[in-house]
Amino acid sequence: MVVMSLGCCFVLPFLNLLLVISVHCNNVPDGVQVECRDRYLWVSIEKPLADRIFQIEALDDTGVYPIMEKYASECGYTHTYDDASGNAILRASYLSCHTDNPTDEVFVFNFNLITSDQGAVSVPLSKTCTLSLPWSNREVICEHKYMEVSVRNVHCASNGETSNSSTSSVAHESATNGFKVLFLKGGEEVASLSIGDARMLGYVIDATAERIVFRAAYGQPHSEIKKINGIPVEVAHATVFFRRSWTVVMIDLTGACTSNLGSFDGEKLLWKTPMVMTPLLYDHSGFVSEHIRFGVKGQLLDDSTIRDWGYMLDISGDSVWIGVPYSANGGHRWSFVEDNTYSEYYWVSLYYEHVFMDGSGHLTRFRQVKKLTSPLLLQVPFTIDQTILEEHYFTVYLGNFPYDVELFDVVLNGEPFSVPEAIQSGYPIARVPHSNGTHAYVLRVPFEDPVVPKMYFSEGILQYSLNINYTLNIIPHDPYYHSASVIAQIKDVFPPDFNGVCTETGIIFKMDHQKLGYLWEIGIGHYPLTTELAAHRGYLLHNDSRRLTLEVPVFTLGYIYEDINLKQFFGTFEILSRDAKTLEIQKSAAKRCLFRTDELIVCSPDGVMTVVANVTAPLPEAEPSRATLTYENEILVNRGLFPEGAPVITRDADFRLTVQCYYPVHDFNQLFVDRKFKSETPGFGSINQASDLTVKHMPKQTTPPNDLLLRYCKEV
Ligand SMILES: *[C@@H]1O[C@H](CO)[C@@H](O)[C@H](O)[C@H]1NC(C)=O
Ligand SMILES: *[C@@H]1O[C@H](CO)[C@@H](O)[C@H](O)[C@H]1NC(C)=O
Ligand SMILES: *[C@@H]1O[C@H](CO)[C@@H](O)[C@H](O)[C@H]1NC(C)=O
Ligand SMILES: *[C@@H]1O[C@H](CO)[C@@H](O)[C@H](O)[C@H]1NC(C)=O
Ligand SMILES: *[C@@H]1O[C@H](CO)[C@@H](O)[C@H](O)[C@H]1NC(C)=O
Repeated sequence: MVVMSLGCCFVLPFLNLLLVISVHCNNVPDGVQVECRDRYLWVSIEKPLADRIFQIEALDDTGVYPIMEKYASECGYTHTYDDASGNAILRASYLSCHTDNPTDEVFVFNFNLITSDQGAVSVPLSKTCTLSLPWSNREVICEHKYMEVSVRNVHCASNGETSNSSTSSVAHESATNGFKVLFLKGGEEVASLSIGDARMLGYVIDATAERIVFRAAYGQPHSEIKKINGIPVEVAHATVFFRRSWTVVMIDLTGACTSNLGSFDGEKLLWKTPMVMTPLLYDHSGFVSEHIRFGVKGQLLDDSTIRDWGYMLDISGDSVWIGVPYSANGGHRWSFVEDNTYSEYYWVSLYYEHVFMDGSGHLTRFRQVKKLTSPLLLQVPFTIDQTILEEHYFTVYLGNFPYDVELFDVVLNGEPFSVPEAIQSGYPIARVPHSNGTHAYVLRVPFEDPVVPKMYFSEGILQYSLNINYTLNIIPHDPYYHSASVIAQIKDVFPPDFNGVCTETGIIFKMDHQKLGYLWEIGIGHYPLTTELAAHRGYLLHNDSRRLTLEVPVFTLGYIYEDINLKQFFGTFEILSRDAKTLEIQKSAAKRCLFRTDELIVCSPDGVMTVVANVTAPLPEAEPSRATLTYENEILVNRGLFPEGAPVITRDADFRLTVQCYYPVHDFNQLFVDRKFKSETPGFGSINQASDLTVKHMPKQTTPPNDLLLRYCKEV
């Protein structure tokens, strides 16, 4: 098809007073922003208001027209949402059906926003735009849901007759004259329709002061998909015929829009479009590309912004490639949770422009809106155990999250903490930003913490474990969970080793402090070894940062005596290493030593008292064969220091040797139950001689651990 240029053209005077008034009438309600862009009016309605609007109407001299979905794409209106803000966006083409456009240079838009407040309230919105970028001979706009083609009209008068009828539409003209729009498909004519019939099928053919406009939604029956360099392109071959006096004007209004989807290579969204949109060319040989530019959200970007944002444009062979890095500025990342699975995708609304000239010498401005969407990307959080054993801290990395995901709280071995609480409780949580805009979290929990259970294995392994349940939140509120378990094992951890050495008067135990010594309690029988216990029992305890030395004099509490004869006996003393938490015995160190003595009293756990005494020594000399044993016992409550000053009942006699055994009451619980004597520990004893009242073998400062004592006392 060719445009037949029919000679004489002219410019018509259009302005009238009424239009001048409406040109200056701008009325933008609160919560609405409007901008005149070079080819359309941009309206952004803030979310709270947008949520209340159930209909938008366009107004012109002829009436009020609700902009419903199908009608919007036929008439040049595009509804979208801004994902980031939730605002409703309306784009109205300068050539849209109900725009007051007297000269193709001033465009008056009038809308009513119908809100659901108190029934239905109509909020007027009006805006006047003036053309900022001159029209090209032909403009093709591939919008979201429709294509719009406008071509400079030829205003011609035949027979020298001038016409002032340009304000009347072609539709009007052809309807009255019965002229047609012709559709071709595969080179064949498929329909020849009156302008009115075409309108019934959803096509709009209109005339403005200077231009003829054709608009068609995508996917119309008279359109076809053609492959150009392997890229699908939707083409609507429309030609308008109309009569002007005795001449016929024929205007080619073919539109062509790339209909492929973008692709995603794992890093960027890619879109490919033919360099030469052949259905729009009449003469390929004369093709000259003036420039290719692109941008986002209906606006072209300058080169430096494109570079800064990392967008790419590549012309290779017959195709133009545009690449947008995932998550780059200008697009939107969208994340959500389903079944505790976090997913996201990224999309960008590209705006592509190619201005070119073909053999006819006319300039075509081709623009296309193309929404590119990545596939749904499952984002499974992962944890990395970064624990360094020597630090004695769990260090757990959790990543990687986009900006709209935040860590909300953590459950550590069943105990919940919000992030500030965790930090306050000594579990630092650091947010680690990455250069690509993602971030991660690093949580630290000390090994030796009440929240961390530990286990000791006899092979010398100490194990700490931490179960973490993270609650992540997609801002503002869409929580999901991720759990992780980490363990830390410290090897070669053994209970303290005591080295015992016999001396004449007792046993000296030595232990070098080793790592994690706090894991064990050093015990003497049931009691933990403390400075108090040592002082109580007469042990000599020396403890510094390097080693612990414990000297236990013979006859102090804790010894077991065996093989006693009149000259010597064996004394055994045992030190235990217990798990500080379970009190389970991990190790025992018992040292058996030979002691020489001429005097001894042993109070064994079964209540047997063994006494070695030189009864020939005292004056007057006593005959051992004439010695008698008198049995006596008493329960003594001692509230103070033992035993000096305590009431000890004695009898006056010429010679008396009193041997006494003391058992901590605490240790023999069976006594009153089955009348059998049984103590958990040996008692300790004293031998007193009437002629020598010093208490032997029992250091004066010694105080048994319990106030309540049972004393067995026998006199010889
Ligand atoms: C312009 O058109 C009107 C009617 O449409 C007509 O009355 C008028 O004479 C025309 N003017 C010229 C200059 O042709
Ligand atoms: C972002 O950076 C982090 C850290 O370098 C990396 O692990 C992650 O894979 C990156 N994510 C994307 C989407 O490139
Ligand atoms: C983590 O916490 C959430 C919320 O309390 C719970 O539904 C989920 O089962 C927990 N996950 C684990 C592994 O304990
Ligand atoms: C001995 O000293 C060490 C280190 O100073 C300390 O941890 C330990 O509790 C002390 N032991 C006793 C029994 O006092
Ligand atoms: C008992 O004491 C006397 C007088 O001190 C001494 O001569 C004797 O050797 C002692 N007997 C023993 C077995 O030690």
